[in-house]
Amino acid sequence: METQTAISNKTTQQDFLPLEGTDFVEFYVGNAKQAAHFYRTVMGFQPLAYCGPETGDRDKVSYVLRQNKVQFMFTTPLHSNHPIADHIHRHGDGIKVLALRVPDAASAWEETTQRGGKSFLEPKAMEDEHGKVVLSGIHTYGEVIHLFVERKDYKGAFLPGFQPWNTPYFHTEETGLLYIDHCVGNVGWNQMNPWVKFYEEVMGFRNILSFDDKDISTEYSALMSKVMSNGNGYVKFPINEPAEGKKKSQVEEYLEYYDGEGVQHVALATADIVHTVTQLRNRGMEFLRVPNSYYDDLESRVGKIDEDIAPLRELGILVDRDDEGYLLQLFSKPVEDRPTLFFEIIQRKGAKSFGKGNFKALFEAIEREQGLRGNL
Ligand code: FE2
Repeated sequence: METQTAISNKTTQQDFLPLEGTDFVEFYVGNAKQAAHFYRTVMGFQPLAYCGPETGDRDKVSYVLRQNKVQFMFTTPLHSNHPIADHIHRHGDGIKVLALRVPDAASAWEETTQRGGKSFLEPKAMEDEHGKVVLSGIHTYGEVIHLFVERKDYKGAFLPGFQPWNTPYFHTEETGLLYIDHCVGNVGWNQMNPWVKFYEEVMGFRNILSFDDKDISTEYSALMSKVMSNGNGYVKFPINEPAEGKKKSQVEEYLEYYDGEGVQHVALATADIVHTVTQLRNRGMEFLRVPNSYYDDLESRVGKIDEDIAPLRELGILVDRDDEGYLLQLFSKPVEDRPTLFFEIIQRKGAKSFGKGNFKALFEAIEREQGLRGNL
């Protein structure tokens, strides 16, 4: 059963880990040059910064792309004995770092590690002619890291050690992606509640929504999910674990192919989902399809909406309503050959929820893909 915890307006308890939002997401990939090209060409990200041998980094290269508030970094090791090569060997391409912007990275590290967070990086100041950045970090589920980024005293493009990345001979239009709405983690059997506890106790998050296997199940497979949010709601991390069904859960398929726990999807917000999805589709991004019959009784399910139904049906965009409004959303197919990470495109029109009314249609669409892979 879905359960929702009311968010209290009282701020009697001080937030020990104030977050200003997601700073960047770092992907470890086999070929950062080509991955960056995909995110520019297909998703409309713009070049921002680069580091590699030319900037004094002898062991790896990183390309940083930005679209509005979304910053993605793609990193590849240059040698087989680099630890990042082990990560790629095990997981394929995937997300390593969910970096969070903080007013004080030293305090963020102290507050979280003294509550049981496992240190990844002790507070470290980095400077160049544009100012100072302080980084620190802790481990979370799988091999994923939360970096804390304090950049209030920095005026450069990205971070010290990076040079601006300019490629004047090639330009792609943005697709209207604005900010990261939420990032979902897939964890192993019976691991959802321990990680919920981690986000509550170590990072001061609250469990704002819970879905059990009755909410998220089809005839064949199931999963459970709890949505964790920081105090101001800027950072939301739903955590999924597989549940028993007649056939294999999509979370199990992920865990098998990623060879462990990791980030399942990143939801990117847009203010015009019809425009954004049209752009993405025309440039070659692949999305899940629900049956056409989904649209036949759409209005009776979600009520009046501002958008015409025809383009939503044409693009396969889903709609759901909650007490506060509605949302439009769509899931991409995995963006690697392994059935692991994918993206969600979301437009919120008042709704603060996650599309519970679409779970069944969506997960049946995922199952059809799983079946085609022979993994159901
Ligand atoms: Fe999502």
